[in-house]
Amino acid sequence: MFAQFLSITLFHALPAWSLIRWLPVPAGPWLWTVIAFFLLQVFLLIFGRDVAFLKEGIAARSTYRLSMLSFVLILNLFLVSIIHLLIRGIITIGGWRITGAATLVPVFSVALLIILGGLLNARKLAVRHVPINATSFPSSWQGRRIVFFSDTHYGTLNGPGMAETLVNKIESLNPDLIICGGDLFDGPKGKFGATLAILARLQAPLGVLAVLGNHDYFYLSRPGSSKELLQRQRNREEMPMGEETRLSAVKKALPWCFLENESVEIDDIIFAGLRPFSIGDEKRALEFLSGLDADKPTILINHKPQQIEEAADAGVRLQLSGHTHGGPVFPMNIVMRILLKGRHFGTTHHGKMILDTSSGSGISLWYPRTAGRHEVVVVEMTSGDNRV
Ligand SMILES: [Fe+2]
Repeated sequence: MFAQFLSITLFHALPAWSLIRWLPVPAGPWLWTVIAFFLLQVFLLIFGRDVAFLKEGIAARSTYRLSMLSFVLILNLFLVSIIHLLIRGIITIGGWRITGAATLVPVFSVALLIILGGLLNARKLAVRHVPINATSFPSSWQGRRIVFFSDTHYGTLNGPGMAETLVNKIESLNPDLIICGGDLFDGPKGKFGATLAILARLQAPLGVLAVLGNHDYFYLSRPGSSKELLQRQRNREEMPMGEETRLSAVKKALPWCFLENESVEIDDIIFAGLRPFSIGDEKRALEFLSGLDADKPTILINHKPQQIEEAADAGVRLQLSGHTHGGPVFPMNIVMRILLKGRHFGTTHHGKMILDTSSGSGISLWYPRTAGRHEVVVVEMTSGDNRV
């Protein structure tokens, strides 16, 4: 805990020093206000998220939101503080007489505007169309639409309001089939029952398929209250699995076909779904993947944009994934693009297989959203490009 406190405090030191040094902030009440603000930031980052596990109600939810906001805020202030130092260095070398406030205020204002834009952006839901040449699929699939959504992370940051927006959006797209890519729920309970009731309205002629994500397994598949889970997590205790969990409630409430290393055939296309690898049964998932019939057209739903080679080798034509949120916070999107070689978002080709990674349909821990946007994906079965 002390190491965490120290590293987070040091992370705040540069923006705090920048304000005090360049505005400059005079000694007295203003200086104490700045120090108190940054200490509150540190406190929110360390403890703010836990509050929503321990308490319910608007105060706990607001503290959780502020905690999430604190992270993106300090990340932005830290980055602009470095940029500001570079600007001051150039001014010093150039020998110009420009006050600290004249450079710091615009630079910090940009950081705050980015945060404001991210807050507004996080409440929007876009539609991304992915045309797939399906001429090699059974003819009944020509002209059909699959709507794919993922990473809604319903809980404290997302609730019934965003579920309502999602369901209305999907209904307006007239899908033939709906697929959920996992991380449906997350963390503290939030308005769990009300959110489930809205999701249960989702319908399509060919049904709703779903895989679960790492967050679903972590937070939904254990019995016990949020408080007990948090205490076990803190004590690094083993998390017991059980029958009566929130996961079993989800499966009871939603008439969806959950695929956990399982497949289902719909009009001569195999739809296969993997359990996420992070929960420790990689072997079973890989065995399932290698056991797929390579001669049948197969669409794989894999929460993470991984196992690409294994899927392509198993004859999968199209893989639908989520998990990354497309890198929802600048500069995380750039880091992810480099680390995942472009697989963090959108359509990529891997031999004969197409992978499409969604940037997710809900607010994750990265809030506000300062890069990319929330979306639902419409896979259009056409005769154009992107042959599978
Ligand atoms: Fe995930």
